[in-house]
Amino acid sequence: MYSVPKLGDYSQESLEKAFAELRAAFDAEAQAPLDEAGWKAFRDRWLGRKSGILTQINEQWLKAAPAEAKREVGRRLNDLRAAIEAGVESARGGASAAAGASGERVDVTLPGIRRPLGAEHPVLRTMNEIVAVFRAMGYSVGEGPEIETDYYNFEALNFPPNHPARDSQDTLFVAGQEAKPPRERLLLRTHTSPMQIRVMEKQPPPVRIVVPGKVYRHDTPDASHSPLFHQVEGFAVDTNITFSDLKGTLDHAMKALFGSSVKTRFSPSFFPFTEPSADVAITCFKCNGKGRIGETPCRVCKQSGWIELLGSGMVDPAVFGFVKANGYDPEKISGFAFGMGVDRIAMIKYEIDDISLLFQGDVRFLEQFA
Ligand code: PHE
Repeated sequence: MYSVPKLGDYSQESLEKAFAELRAAFDAEAQAPLDEAGWKAFRDRWLGRKSGILTQINEQWLKAAPAEAKREVGRRLNDLRAAIEAGVESARGGASAAAGASGERVDVTLPGIRRPLGAEHPVLRTMNEIVAVFRAMGYSVGEGPEIETDYYNFEALNFPPNHPARDSQDTLFVAGQEAKPPRERLLLRTHTSPMQIRVMEKQPPPVRIVVPGKVYRHDTPDASHSPLFHQVEGFAVDTNITFSDLKGTLDHAMKALFGSSVKTRFSPSFFPFTEPSADVAITCFKCNGKGRIGETPCRVCKQSGWIELLGSGMVDPAVFGFVKANGYDPEKISGFAFGMGVDRIAMIKYEIDDISLLFQGDVRFLEQFA
């Protein structure tokens, strides 16, 4: 029976030396070819529960260590244990290969182990598709913080403090912010639009960027609402950008996403940070805008023939006014912005009728996308 030497003192040097010697002894033994019985003896000698070498170190070195050295001995013991466990395990491969050569055979006709394929989540897949369409048009891609300040989520987007337009955003506020000035208070971003401001603060015009990400609203969950969902923001600023550019860009993007036969419809809307603003709908790709397929009412557009997809508009000059740096002069430049709900688009594309399916992680649902 092997027994570990006594530790003279607990200085770094003694510990280093003692552990290095054990490690060297182990490595030397692990080199030697072993048969099955030899491997078992080797394993028990190092890892045996009652009197294996690791157990002895634990009893005699670690437990006996003075308080100030315990951490260091423990750390070294953990490292040694990891090395020994890995070494014993790989020596086992050697031992059974030796056994195989001397008798046992591998049956190469047995079926292999089939590993289930992973798949991209439908929300991410949709988000990537949207981003790819805009990348192809020369847009860059950026991401921003999900915990935002009141300033970026609202004020700089032309929602004045206490303005009723804030109500529509069902904001989740971070608790305990009362001591801060109102604009510095934290909240979970309700849209990806704060990145319009962050991007302009970072770079001078021209800008063309899409921003995918998670957003949060205080909504009671039901088949079409979830307190967490996803948006892709689009933002372009340059000289001479007009509403026609917005229409052309979104018309192209919708055709790329839903098929070249869809048509787009822009109807007047309101957002504090765009003027004019428009909601964008597409003709239903399922029934071609007819509202029914033969005699059957279309489920995808609920018979209306149209699907409302996103909010958009020309950047309100007041928004440029909030960006002090980089020369965003509303007399010289203009821009457009749009924001689309990714989850809703995924649900429409894949005909998913309950948004909560996207967030439950149920493999029976997810494997349909493999
Ligand atoms: N941020 C808006 C929303 O979430 C959408 C939007 C983005 C509208 C950009 C106009 C321009 O409701």
